[in-house]
Amino acid sequence: MQNNMSHSAAPIGIFDSGYGGLTVARAIAEKLPHENIIYVGDSARCPYGPRDLREVDGFVQQIGSWLVDQGVKLLVIACNTATAAGLVHAQQTFPVPVVGVVEPGARGAVRATLNRRVGVIATKGTIESGAYSAAIRNLDAGITVFSTPAPRFVEIAELGIRMADGPLESFMSEASKVYIRPEFQKIAIEYLEPLRRCDVDTLVLGCTHYPLLKSLIGGVMGRKVTLISSASETALDVAETLARRGQLAPDDNEGLWRFFTTGDDVEAFQRFGGRVFKTHLENVSHLDLP
Ligand code: DGL
Repeated sequence: MQNNMSHSAAPIGIFDSGYGGLTVARAIAEKLPHENIIYVGDSARCPYGPRDLREVDGFVQQIGSWLVDQGVKLLVIACNTATAAGLVHAQQTFPVPVVGVVEPGARGAVRATLNRRVGVIATKGTIESGAYSAAIRNLDAGITVFSTPAPRFVEIAELGIRMADGPLESFMSEASKVYIRPEFQKIAIEYLEPLRRCDVDTLVLGCTHYPLLKSLIGGVMGRKVTLISSASETALDVAETLARRGQLAPDDNEGLWRFFTTGDDVEAFQRFGGRVFKTHLENVSHLDLP
């Protein structure tokens, strides 16, 4: 696979099954404002969560290859399901460093927990892969991990993205109140009440869509439970990897962001993606993947 542009002005490639990875892209853009970014949202095949992990691994290979062909200097798999399914294979295949979101989330949880009882919510695929339990126990084998799939949270997050008016993801923002509805709360209680009863003091939001639901999830878990999302820890990993390789973009680089959706509705991706990315998305195009 060719990559002849892995120098400092080359872009960072980031991808997810849809809008969720924009929470990670946002954290990277905030931490590294001079970096050029190419983001791919695979909306045409969202959700990844219920799919066979081998199929998702194939998506990682396909989108990763396309991004490498665009000359990215580093790849971020901004989706937990895709990280669980394809990180190792991607690191073995691609000629650039590949950063996933599971290890950074695990690290954040290990740092935050005091009673060493950690909950993890994620898609069915991520939970069944055991990736989070393994990553957390790898850092501290004495931590007890309680995991549960919360598949409908992806659907709720996507619904809210369409209903909101303004940027989401700030904990108490007006827009994020779209998630405080009895029908959503009922589902949240169903998923989260068993974890609350396990006395976890830390909960990993193990899907990049879930940070959008912080107010809903935090409302059920209570103030004493720390919610961990991988976004800022992942941005830290990206910054450290690039610095180590001498590949950080120069300070006079403006930071150009380009977005691609595999879905047909480019206008919708632009409108709704801006609510997650917290800034209007200027450059959005359709990407045709076979
Ligand atoms: N955002 C993806 C993740 O982090 C899940 C969404 C989906 O099921 O496609 O796992």
